[in-house]
Amino acid sequence: MLEKIKEIEAKIEQDILNIKNSEDLENFRLKYLSRKGIISELYDSIKSISIEERPSIGKKINELKAYCQQVYAEKKKILEEFSEKKSEQIDLSLPGRRKWLGSLHPLTQTLKEIKLIFQRMGFDVADGPEIEEDYYNFEALNFPPEHPARDMQDTFFISDKVLLRTHTSPVQIRVMERTTPPVRVIIPGRVYRNEAISARSYCLFHQVEGLYVDTGVTFSELKGTLVSFAKQFFGSSLKYRFRPSFFPFTEPSAEMDITCFLCDGKGCRVCKQTGWLEILGCGMVDPNVYKYVGYDSEKYTGYAFGMGIERISMLRYGIDDIRILFDNDIRFLKQF
Ligand code: PHE
Repeated sequence: MLEKIKEIEAKIEQDILNIKNSEDLENFRLKYLSRKGIISELYDSIKSISIEERPSIGKKINELKAYCQQVYAEKKKILEEFSEKKSEQIDLSLPGRRKWLGSLHPLTQTLKEIKLIFQRMGFDVADGPEIEEDYYNFEALNFPPEHPARDMQDTFFISDKVLLRTHTSPVQIRVMERTTPPVRVIIPGRVYRNEAISARSYCLFHQVEGLYVDTGVTFSELKGTLVSFAKQFFGSSLKYRFRPSFFPFTEPSAEMDITCFLCDGKGCRVCKQTGWLEILGCGMVDPNVYKYVGYDSEKYTGYAFGMGIERISMLRYGIDDIRILFDNDIRFLKQF
């Protein structure tokens, strides 16, 4: 009997070496471990040996069975791991995946173009804080203390003296404080207003401010610069007009309109049948403002202007709801 067990042991060692796939493994199981397998047969043959020999032979068979089970489990694990790895392998014959290219947000595109036009005309780019002091946002810009723009209705106040800037004009003051003329800058940035959100207004938007101060700067230079900008941006055939307006920090002040490029001035939905589109506010820097920054208002004159980037983008691309510019909806953004 012992002889037989030894023989079987040797056979098992050989068979183990031949297990190469799950089929071989299954054959191994059937051959040794199944109910009609070799190990079962061994157990059956215990009956035919003497009572004295039985315990030691039984022990041997138990060991053999445990060994076969262990081999089976180990081989099974190895084969499973291998087949997982195989499925992870890259199939080079598959068609490639398309690379998606992003694009710049329409506001970024508009701003880039505006910047480029003014930079070519000799303007530098400056910026300032979005959380601003009342002093810069209002006081130094010659807003009287009771001016309605200072009302809670329009301004997000953080504290008595600190607020979210409502326009980019406070950076005019900050730039003049640190520069002696000539000053020639544009100031793009985010601004905030406490307004009811609708298709036409949002609590946050962007402006580009412009400021030019030097000796002998005139209103006709302001006009010339802005007309040149509008023609480069909207097209050289546009007509324009300047309407008198009011801002506390400019005197005289104006608003610039261009002919509606959708209807060519005939009147349509976009221009509300007027034929005209307002694109910016501007004016000559009020001498009162120079007092706050220590400029000699007898020596220097200058102009300033400010435009809303959302408004200009909406006009240009025919967008009729400002909120879509802040939604990040890929179906919209994809079009730019
Ligand atoms: N800051 C003004 C606004 O937000 C625009 C403006 C800027 C007007 C500079 C005149 C000069 O409406």
